[in-house]
Amino acid sequence: MKTVVSDVQYTSDRNKRILSGMRPTGKLHLGHLHGALENWRELQNRYDCFYFIADWHALTTDYADPSGIRESTFEMLADWIACGVDPNKATIFIQSHVIEHAELALLLAMITPLSWLERVPTYKEMKEELRDKDLATYGFLGYPLLQTADIIAYKANYVPVGEDQVPHLELGREIVRRFNYLYGDTFPEPQPLLTRVPKILGTDGRKMSKSYGNAIYLSDTPAEITEKIMRMYTDPRRLRRTDPGNPDVCGIFYLHKFHSSEDDISMVNRECRTAGIGCVDCKKLLLPSLISELAPIREKREGLMRKKHELEEIIQEGDKKAREVAQETLEEVRKKVGLN
Ligand code: TRP
Ligand code: SF4
Repeated sequence: MKTVVSDVQYTSDRNKRILSGMRPTGKLHLGHLHGALENWRELQNRYDCFYFIADWHALTTDYADPSGIRESTFEMLADWIACGVDPNKATIFIQSHVIEHAELALLLAMITPLSWLERVPTYKEMKEELRDKDLATYGFLGYPLLQTADIIAYKANYVPVGEDQVPHLELGREIVRRFNYLYGDTFPEPQPLLTRVPKILGTDGRKMSKSYGNAIYLSDTPAEITEKIMRMYTDPRRLRRTDPGNPDVCGIFYLHKFHSSEDDISMVNRECRTAGIGCVDCKKLLLPSLISELAPIREKREGLMRKKHELEEIIQEGDKKAREVAQETLEEVRKKVGLN
């Protein structure tokens, strides 16, 4: 499959639509900032962007205890806005507030062979990984189907996602082709838009993730950031101060690349390899810029969490705009499938 990497991000086309969503898993961390939000913030200046909170998707795995979903929705929204996702530029909404997604997912279910869903690689993997939850449900199997409905309800052209979502997108494109073949040309085939970002590692050297408990959150205070950075794993083979290190496998170096000056980055890149700089000094060099970049985000998100009505207004407006588009699509779809 042809995958668009980044190039469209440097062009501009207001007639092209971009859509992306996140499941409300709670507060966001540096991985979300560098892996998604900075990209969203760029794209909103050049495309017609729709960003939404996938609360139905959260239910596919958390149906037995949905108590955190609403609080997480607002935490996440506050993080988005604090990072510069702008409701005046992009349409920001909540999935379950636009019921057309559900109607479209139902209609897509009619034409989607079961085998297509069963062979999605993430399906078996996630079922294994989340073994403490019973995911032998119809909703979980249908996860990528609902995701396809999310996208095509807006006839989106591009979908910025991480690598892990590509199989879902691929299935979505197959479903679109089948729909267009059966009922006539209706939807563009949505293209994944992969961002080229180096991995963001957590404090324990694994991928930064809430579930590993190794994340630096956008809401962390300077004291929390300092504590986490100072105990963060570095190059695992650099045991002594006198050992030369390899910045290419070090999470601290990845953070330098995002938060430090060119001069500091090349200095670390050079001096680490000859043991000219120690990890403690390297971390102390990172901290001031990391802390000063996160401070305004933390302050803004705190302010927003105290003024929930502002977040609610943003959502109400976004919901309205999203509904208008999705309703128009569904009118066309109902006609095409013979249900008008
Ligand atoms: N499955 C996506 C994730 O876990 C979230 C999502 C749901 C999504 N619907 C979407 C992403 C539509 C892009 C487009 O990250
Ligand atoms: Fe990582 Fe810096 Fe230590 Fe090198 S010196 S291993 S880049 S923390």
